[in-house]
Amino acid sequence: MIRAVVTGTGSALPARRVSNAELAAQVDTSDEWIVERTGIRFRHIAAPDETTGSLATDAARRAIEAAGLSPTDIDLIVLATATPDQTFPATATKVQAALGILDCVAFDVAAVCSGFLYAVQVADSMLRTGVHRRALVIGAETFSRILDWEDRTTCVLFGDGAGAIVLEGRGVEQDGRGILATKLHADGRYNDLLYVDGGPSTTGTVGKLRMKGREVFRHAVTNLAAVMTESLALAGLESSDVDWVVPHQANARILDATARKLGLAPEKVIVTVDRHANTSAASVPLALDVAVRDGRVKQDDIVVLEAMGGGFTWGAAVIRF
Ligand code: UT7
Repeated sequence: MIRAVVTGTGSALPARRVSNAELAAQVDTSDEWIVERTGIRFRHIAAPDETTGSLATDAARRAIEAAGLSPTDIDLIVLATATPDQTFPATATKVQAALGILDCVAFDVAAVCSGFLYAVQVADSMLRTGVHRRALVIGAETFSRILDWEDRTTCVLFGDGAGAIVLEGRGVEQDGRGILATKLHADGRYNDLLYVDGGPSTTGTVGKLRMKGREVFRHAVTNLAAVMTESLALAGLESSDVDWVVPHQANARILDATARKLGLAPEKVIVTVDRHANTSAASVPLALDVAVRDGRVKQDDIVVLEAMGGGFTWGAAVIRF
């Protein structure tokens, strides 16, 4: 039996960091409101020459290096994004080209903020067949390009960035490490609560993000606590077995409320929303890379990843790291 083991992580952020005070100079908001309601203090915003593809490539390079591999060892790239460089081709193929990989399977996954969890389950399934051996799973976004910078209810919440992991298929008998369980959901009845008001097949424009935040918040806590419980049950574990939760970084209040629902100590929750804001599909792998590089997440730890976003879509993964 084969399991997908995380052997490297990496991330990338645009150089430009924007504070709440800077935003308050542009729209009717304040540092106090943003910090109190969301926990966000800063976000990184891409320069014109930084794209989802370039950030993804930087994150991928770091993950491959951390895994002790070279790019040509990769035979599968799954990239989660809602802000691709172009409508097509898939941004995954741009990363492939930039890394100098001449042949592999490369495609994008669109599940917005839970895109990385979807990409992990897809890559995990493909590795467990044995057809693919080493996968790059990336979450990368430039949400700054789809924000309405005059809408204070959304523009203060998001940022740009990318995170990546290398997953390698290995025999379970080796050390018990790897992805133990994944669980995904979608409920399209909620399309209208979080969406972009444009698209190639409707308006022919890119569109801007629209969100009914309060309603999304309400669903987020319920759905995330439920899917974490489901994924732990699939892995044969309980919340007391969890060393770290790496949640989607949408709002500090959602992180607190979800942890409380599961009876998890706040110290076990990796929080980067204060520095990165909500980077959609990038937020989980970005936070994971931060916690790996600062020494908190270590080999053999039980790590739960979770996210929820537009669709609605939501999911969780349980990993023996
Ligand atoms: O990544 C996908 C998942 N997304 C999420 O999980 C986001 C979930 N939602 C949230 O995080 C929160 O609902 C928000 C942070 C978006 C909003 O927080 P809230 O506590 O739900 O605030 P609210 O929408 O109920 O708005 C409260 C007040 C309103 O004023 P009134 O109507 O009470 O007079 C808003 O107009 O705050 C006002 N407001 C702002 N004030 C200053 C909304 N945005 C701002 C702002 N600055 N940026």
